[in-house]
Amino acid sequence: MARSKIALIGAGQIGGTLAHLAGLKELGDVVLFDIADGIPQGKGLDIAESAPVDGFDAKFSGASDYAAIEGADVIIVTAGVPRKPGMSRDDLIGINLKVMESVGQGIKQYAPNAFVICITNPLDAMVWALQKFSGLPTNKIVGMAGVLDSARFRHFLADEFKVSVEDVTAFVLGGHGDDMVPLVRYSTVAGVPLPDLVKLGWTTQEKLDAMVERTRKGGGEIVNLLKTGSAFYAPAASAIAMAESYLRDKKRVLPCAAHLSGQYGIDGLFIGVPIVIGAEGVERVLEVEFNPDEKAMFDKSIASVKGLIEACKGINGALA
Ligand code: APR
Repeated sequence: MARSKIALIGAGQIGGTLAHLAGLKELGDVVLFDIADGIPQGKGLDIAESAPVDGFDAKFSGASDYAAIEGADVIIVTAGVPRKPGMSRDDLIGINLKVMESVGQGIKQYAPNAFVICITNPLDAMVWALQKFSGLPTNKIVGMAGVLDSARFRHFLADEFKVSVEDVTAFVLGGHGDDMVPLVRYSTVAGVPLPDLVKLGWTTQEKLDAMVERTRKGGGEIVNLLKTGSAFYAPAASAIAMAESYLRDKKRVLPCAAHLSGQYGIDGLFIGVPIVIGAEGVERVLEVEFNPDEKAMFDKSIASVKGLIEACKGINGALA
């Protein structure tokens, strides 16, 4: 059986890390695409030269022509600009919306059967726009945010409880902004929900609240430390988990920005919710119940995403 083809549109910090991880996990042959000629070729060659040392078989190539993505099975989109200190994800909308238009056209022409994972921010609006520009079926395009936000929360929790990150599960839903919704009731250590762990004295409500807040601002914390760009290791690892679930039909249940058509009372938006990713793409949306506080947080997050969509429509009339 031929190897899968993975196209990475954007070969910057996240794109390069994605290529390396895809190689290490032998997910398939990798094409890096970028408008900055030389970068995708250079990163591809560099990673290919690491393969004999680490012992993985995959081909790497770089391109600045969309024809190179032809027939890709999976496409991961990071093309665009990242945040700098003082910027919110929403400040990127004008530039990155234009980028999504050209990426969408490239996908439509050369890889309309691919499973597409969008990472470019502001995520929930960019994945919505990319679906419109590419015309992809809504089960074949998702945004990467929830896996990353949940991973950040899991890291903070494991650190606080002094337990393995493997035994901590967490759900962070809603939009990928500062009003995302970390669901404490559905987050556990080995199946024990966090509120029970507060009762058991493993942590205090104040500390838990602080970890929730740190999760919400997790992206900004990295931007402020790096100063020259935004996070890339954890975002890349998160998208690779999603790609692997599709390519290997693992049917993992992962929080992703998925198209909703009535679930959670929402129609026509991409919002972070738990989904099953398998060979059919988005195979199922898992609808969890909210208590009134969670519902209020979720509604606030939805309102922010709707605001971004309206801004996109204002910038590009074709989306209205
Ligand atoms: N087509 C293809 N590539 C493009 C285009 C375009 N129209 N415009 C920009 N790029 C490329 C840039 O040349 C750069 O190599 O996208 C790459 C982005 O890489 P970085 O600047 O290193 O950004 P990165 O950290 O990888 O983040 C990319 O993901 O998390 C989000 O907010 C982040 O939107 C940003 C994206």
